[in-house]
Amino acid sequence: MSEKQLVYQSGFGNEFATEAVPGALPHGQNAPQKSALGLYTEQFSGTPFTAPRASNRRTWTYRIRPSVTHKPYQEIDAKMIRSGPFAEVPTPPNQLRWNPLPIPETRTDFVDGIVTLGGNGDPAFQTGVAVHLYAANASMRDRFFYNADGELLIVPQDGLLLLHTELGILSIAPGEIGVIPRGVKFRVEIEAKAARGYLCENYGLPFRLPELGPIGANGLANSRDFLTPVAAYEDRDGSFQIVSKFLGGLWVAEIDHSPLDVVAWHGNYAPYKYDLKNFNCINSVSFDHPDPSIYTVLTAPAVNPGTANVDFAIFPPRWMVAEHTFRPPWFHRNMMNEFMGLVFGQYDAKAEGFVPGGASLHNCMAGHGPDAETWERATAAELKPQYLENTLAFMFETQLVMRPTKFALETKILQHEYYECWQGLKKHFRTPQG
Ligand SMILES: [Fe+2]
Repeated sequence: MSEKQLVYQSGFGNEFATEAVPGALPHGQNAPQKSALGLYTEQFSGTPFTAPRASNRRTWTYRIRPSVTHKPYQEIDAKMIRSGPFAEVPTPPNQLRWNPLPIPETRTDFVDGIVTLGGNGDPAFQTGVAVHLYAANASMRDRFFYNADGELLIVPQDGLLLLHTELGILSIAPGEIGVIPRGVKFRVEIEAKAARGYLCENYGLPFRLPELGPIGANGLANSRDFLTPVAAYEDRDGSFQIVSKFLGGLWVAEIDHSPLDVVAWHGNYAPYKYDLKNFNCINSVSFDHPDPSIYTVLTAPAVNPGTANVDFAIFPPRWMVAEHTFRPPWFHRNMMNEFMGLVFGQYDAKAEGFVPGGASLHNCMAGHGPDAETWERATAAELKPQYLENTLAFMFETQLVMRPTKFALETKILQHEYYECWQGLKKHFRTPQG
């Protein structure tokens, strides 16, 4: 199926109802004594039964076989995937930046193409995140994946992904994001020669839309622009594998049929996609610019009020109109920890070095901000309304220090010279007397 034929349901966290075969969904109850069409009934819970109604997530599935029909799991090599607790190497307080991950030369599917850059917390305690890059050149057809450790936010940077999930099929292209909830089984088809991007694995509470406060009832990412697939099932028998990410390890089980066999479902626990072009940017029309939290697309709250286990924020094309204001991001030190990536174009704080597919990490209290060239240009610029056209950067901002993996600190794609971009920031101080 091509991405053009895909059908979606609109809304964030809605109570969706969808059936690939008419009559598969029961009416008036969830678990009839006999399901229609000879299907099995299975509830799929993404939150505790007793979670508050506003955050309760569960879906009822009507499937060809229940999920329990597989052989026992055996542990396999996790290759370049790492999980919390992240303690392979000491975490330096340095600003870090990486070049893009090369596209693999040998056959590599989405799961094999995951490389962990760092993370925090621990999936065993359902808190923290892992940040991964992926670079793949092969589709998954007979291999399926699910993640018990967290939900996956996928940010493609190059190449369209077709996500065949238990609950339907989504396509995500660069400029869009996809979210696969914890536990949803899926396989990834790659349409082009290769695909590359970023993953935020959220061990904590699921992503939700941020509160809007005085902004009002609309703005930022609007609920109706989130798209969830309609039911689509595979009735395939054969020799297949399910790969499970569980407590940081990778495990594989044999199964004699496709686990993507949900013919109908209803509920509010399902994968979704979002086109970042639909983000309604709100910013200053007088002077200064607000904190970058104004660009939050999705937030996964931590326990402390106002604190995120992880926020997903973007810096998309937008107008800059602030008067008598230094317009690029200001110099900053932060209690929170900032991982950034670039989907396309150029980021307004960095003239060079931060390239599409690359990444940077500014951990707790590490100074960061525009490079010397950007500072010189921005302090001398004539302040006319300016449209930042070709740019899409994003940030995973997380409560706990993000600890790089051994790979992240030893790889050739680490830019050891990153600190140099600030060394040209000269002393301009002078007293009124000169
Ligand atoms: Fe910052």
